[in-house]
Amino acid sequence: MSGRVVPVFLLSLCLNVGSIQSQGSSQDAFVIQYLERRLVQIEERLNQCEQNTVSVTQKTYDLSSEIRGYLSILGVLRSEMKSHMDSVSMRLDRMERELEYLENKIPTQSDIEMEEALLEQQIKAAELDQLNKKAQIQVENDCSTALSQVKSLKIVKKAGDIYGSWFKDPSEQSAKVYLLSGIHNDTLLEYASLQSFAERTTTSPVKAIQLPFHWQGTGHIVYNGFLYYHKADTPNQIVKVDLLNGTAVDSTLLPGAGRLPVYSLNPNTYLDLAVDELGLWAIHADPEFGGNLVITKLDKGTLAVEYTWDTQCRSRDAEGAFLMCGTLYVVYNTHYGGRSTIQCLYDIHDTIHSNESPVMFFPKRYTSHSSIHYHPGDKQLYAWDDGYQTIYKVETRRNDQVISE
Ligand SMILES: *[C@@H]1O[C@H](CO)[C@@H](O)[C@H](O)[C@H]1NC(C)=O
Ligand SMILES: *[C@@H]1O[C@H](CO)[C@@H](O)[C@H](O)[C@H]1NC(C)=O
Repeated sequence: MSGRVVPVFLLSLCLNVGSIQSQGSSQDAFVIQYLERRLVQIEERLNQCEQNTVSVTQKTYDLSSEIRGYLSILGVLRSEMKSHMDSVSMRLDRMERELEYLENKIPTQSDIEMEEALLEQQIKAAELDQLNKKAQIQVENDCSTALSQVKSLKIVKKAGDIYGSWFKDPSEQSAKVYLLSGIHNDTLLEYASLQSFAERTTTSPVKAIQLPFHWQGTGHIVYNGFLYYHKADTPNQIVKVDLLNGTAVDSTLLPGAGRLPVYSLNPNTYLDLAVDELGLWAIHADPEFGGNLVITKLDKGTLAVEYTWDTQCRSRDAEGAFLMCGTLYVVYNTHYGGRSTIQCLYDIHDTIHSNESPVMFFPKRYTSHSSIHYHPGDKQLYAWDDGYQTIYKVETRRNDQVISE
């Protein structure tokens, strides 16, 4: 506003100055100089003022273009948001419809409860059935022997291969001794007695029995005149052979067996058979239970499975095992051979526990066992020890907890 007033005022000043100059006084010259200086100053300020105005205008322009930019971004965001909202609401709609559909399909609560009750009933029945079977095994035999120590070692003979198994028929009245040398063969040797087997002069057996199939591994057993063994080239077939005439009378497949060696230190044996006071057993390692040992009670007549127990005993570093009164004792060693120890046991009656019984050492002898068989009558272990046939005497104690059950 003042910018426009100033030029008019200046013009009138100049006219005045012209008339004063003509008077020619020195005082007037001084006033003129003063006025000229003022004029220059005012011009300078005017210039500055103009420059300022230009820069403010520029800034205003910049600002407004920035704001326009923001506005367009906002517009884009808003349309994006709108399309999001649309799709969410569409999905919500669809979900609601699906929920409705499902609600119509799901049966009412009472139906579900009925089915659950039925299932529970079935499970209880199955459990009862298993308990009955277990109880039967317990009642059949009053058995109260527990191992307390592996006492002494007797080396009976050195015959056959490095690997093999030998044992007496554990049924009463039988003195016969059997020898199965090697991990794959079909000829079993029968001796009249331990004495005739041990004789170093007469090495010839009473009888060499030809079996209908080759055997595999070292887990065989003779019981009541029948040989039970793992048929070679099958994963898990157990054959029962009548030793009077060498004919197979029965066979079965042991569920779950055949995928792992029973004992990691005896890699050729996939099935181990055992006899104790309660009867015939099969031992195998099951990969589904982390390679732990599983024991199965078999009917010695029909080979039918009576019951199966999963034990916590591992097969790694094990070299053998035997059963005594329904308790599994697992023998461990090292790859290099050494002093065998019993470090894990499993009692089917749950009266003896691994953590209560100390590690049991075998008498000092630095070798390895390819088979160990317990004879419930003799209370002795028949072992194949690196080609030697040995006998361990064991010390037992009464496990009175079984009696009190
Ligand atoms: C099978 O066993 C018999 C008797 O122990 C033995 O004479 C024979 O050499 C064995 N056969 C093989 C192939 O090892
Ligand atoms: C083998 O012996 C058993 C018992 O003596 C008999 O029942 C069976 O018939 C015999 N088998 C053959 C093939 O002779």
